[in-house]
Amino acid sequence: MRQAGRYLPEYREIRGRARSFLDFCYTPELAIEATLQPIRRFGFDAAILFSDILVVPDAFGQKVWFAEGEGPRLEPVTTREAFAALKPRIDLEHLQPVFEAIGGVRAALPAQTALFGFCGAPWTVASYMIAGRGTKDLAPARLIAYRDPELFAQLIERLVEGSIDYLSRQFEAGVDAVQIFESFASAIPERHVAAWSDEPIRRIVAGVRARVPGARIIVFSRGAGHRLSWLAAATGADAIGIDWTVDPVRAVREVPATVPTQGNLDPMALVAGGEMLEREVEVILSAFAGRPHIFNLGHGILPETPIAHVERLVAKVRGQV
Ligand code: CP3
Repeated sequence: MRQAGRYLPEYREIRGRARSFLDFCYTPELAIEATLQPIRRFGFDAAILFSDILVVPDAFGQKVWFAEGEGPRLEPVTTREAFAALKPRIDLEHLQPVFEAIGGVRAALPAQTALFGFCGAPWTVASYMIAGRGTKDLAPARLIAYRDPELFAQLIERLVEGSIDYLSRQFEAGVDAVQIFESFASAIPERHVAAWSDEPIRRIVAGVRARVPGARIIVFSRGAGHRLSWLAAATGADAIGIDWTVDPVRAVREVPATVPTQGNLDPMALVAGGEMLEREVEVILSAFAGRPHIFNLGHGILPETPIAHVERLVAKVRGQV
């Protein structure tokens, strides 16, 4: 999950140095620094590469930009003509600065600190490519999926292939594990979850493992709380990320004991702090005790999060307070 960002003054300082958010992602020196900042400050066990899931559409030749204070914007792909204008394969040359940043981070990180790479799952990335922005209930993507299933399937297929190429190169560049973010699984009708989400992810997992034997892959599927018992099997993931809406006690009952989990503190509890934060953390720690578990937020850190609350959280999880 996001661990860098606007809640850190040192992030805001270097963010101001790049002309745009994408320039920030594509300037290895800045991306390396943004990745290392939370590690220096909090000593987390793992760093997540500073980048964004939308570098993938950018590397397919779609126009992508980040509107200041509004979020991502893309030139929407809703027609066969627009789809045909995309590059047939992901342009890994264009993503060279990302791989350079991975190498730089790996060299600078303490040996015991893991480095995570990532990409968005095809449905999540396609939803931005189709709508051109974040949308409520992903209406434009669902409309295309029903109106032109062939175009939709081709776009998903293109993203599966691109994600295999991209994640494999991230491993070659030095990441220890990757996460696949399905941020909008909740907007998929249950009948279509296999075709739109699980199966494309499964093919990415299998494709990456075919090129990088033993590649470690975590799948975070937000809104998959009712599918915890088979999500790892359906996608082939080594571990599953659990979003903040899920009751940890139920997760432990339903996720097979051999499947490592990651999560799932509500980022808003971290904003609130105080006794409620302590209690929420204790519930997660006791629920997942004795199982392989990565303590994490159940979604990205919020810009208004007080730094002191993050410090308190780390101390609490490590049993220091
Ligand atoms: O913390 C880190 O260093 C990890 C880097 C990271 C970012 N985005 C940086 C970022 C990661 C892992 C992501 C993933 C991402 N990006 C997802 C999947 C995970 C999730 O959160 O659901 C999605 C859906 C996106 C798309 C995206 N990027 C949105 C919707 C936004 C705007 C939201 C906002 O908070 O303004 C971004 C921008 C973005 N990506 C920021 C960061 C730190 C904020 C940019 C800023 O400084 O203004």
